[in-house]
Amino acid sequence: MSSEFTERDGHMHVEALALGDIAAEVGTPFYCYSSAALRSRYAALATALAALKVDIFYAVKANSNPAIIATLAAEGAGADIVSGGELRQALAAGVPAQKIVFAGVAKTEEELAFALEHGIGQFNVESFAELNSLNQVATKMQRVAPVGLRVNPDVDAGTHAKITTGRKENKFGIDIAAAPEFFKAAAAMDGISARSMSVHIGSQITNLVPFELAYRNLREMTLSLRQQGFSIDHLDLGGGLGIVYDAENEPDLSDYARIIKATVSDLDCRLSIEPGRFLTGNAGVLVTKVLLVKEGEGRDFVITDGAMNDLIRPTLYEAFHDIRPLTQRSGDARLIDVVGPICESGDYFAKSRLMQPAKAGDLLAVMGAGAYGAVMSSTYNSRPLIPEVLVDYARFHIIRPRMSYAEMLARDSLPDWLDKTKP
Ligand code: LLP
Repeated sequence: MSSEFTERDGHMHVEALALGDIAAEVGTPFYCYSSAALRSRYAALATALAALKVDIFYAVKANSNPAIIATLAAEGAGADIVSGGELRQALAAGVPAQKIVFAGVAKTEEELAFALEHGIGQFNVESFAELNSLNQVATKMQRVAPVGLRVNPDVDAGTHAKITTGRKENKFGIDIAAAPEFFKAAAAMDGISARSMSVHIGSQITNLVPFELAYRNLREMTLSLRQQGFSIDHLDLGGGLGIVYDAENEPDLSDYARIIKATVSDLDCRLSIEPGRFLTGNAGVLVTKVLLVKEGEGRDFVITDGAMNDLIRPTLYEAFHDIRPLTQRSGDARLIDVVGPICESGDYFAKSRLMQPAKAGDLLAVMGAGAYGAVMSSTYNSRPLIPEVLVDYARFHIIRPRMSYAEMLARDSLPDWLDKTKP
């Protein structure tokens, strides 16, 4: 867990500030991120990989707030994006277009054209159909699109079924055996320059063996392609490095570096990775207030103002998030379900968790919420999106204000025939 969220004098702090003080100003629930935590995660990875000259492209999907992207970009990160929206966020954060890689199983013509117009560094292409449409768009614009082929190495990442991507039955990438055919087709296209391959096998991977297998497959295919006369000068090794939510062993970065060194570093290719969760996951928490406590069958229900629409990971992936009181309380631990007010049994942050009792008005921090938290939130049950706060030592900034009810309502429109306010 990130050391930037620590208890001092009985109260949880983020860097130099008490989280309770921020809560008093912005209200609950809210997301709170630590700049120092983001920077130290980036530095740890960059240092471990420095000798191998691996470029880090932050996978913006984990947390696409431009302030988060800008914090990491200031440390040297590029951006890995998967949509026209993320591209705009990365540009808004000041990431140079050349340091942006566009991934994803399908991109619209509008997205491709917009990205070409801005001169992004690379398109990771995942199908022959996409290669064709990118060629068409690029030719029409008289541009040449720098392309990397995303291969599917058929490796099991050993992670949750919903976040594994490198098996043959997954929709991602092109079967690695079809790579020669892909590069042959690309070579015949005026709008395409394909000299790169990428691989991404899944997320929250804590065992490094699947990375090694995937990178070995990538190495063999690189050598084989070169023998067939294709130039490959860049390998994108994907994201997926797991983090500690509970009692996981975080992969050792020097072991990860050793794997890269042993598999692909002698190929004389430019190397890059696309970590998301590793950089932001433990750099953020969700702060929520206890609305009431209800005694249930063999357990207490602690009902909070935050809910599954704010953080869906527990119910979507059975994900564990540690929950800590902002202010320490005494009392024996008991079995508790921490749940939100939404009308669904899947609306919970924790089930049958042995934890200290909480009272109405208490503030709780749901830890490890910096990745795939705010970005996956919705307004389900007509709950306005919650604010996000970025702390930098003793100062903080609301990097996304709370959506007001007026803003939420303004997005909808009544047709004339139902609008009673119109004559
Ligand atoms: N590159 C590609 C092509 C990806 O698809 C992903 C994540 C990443 C990089 C970054 O992976 P990371 O380093 O963050 O593991 N919502 C899920 C995670 C979905 C990951 C999707 N792809 C969750 O909350 O666990």
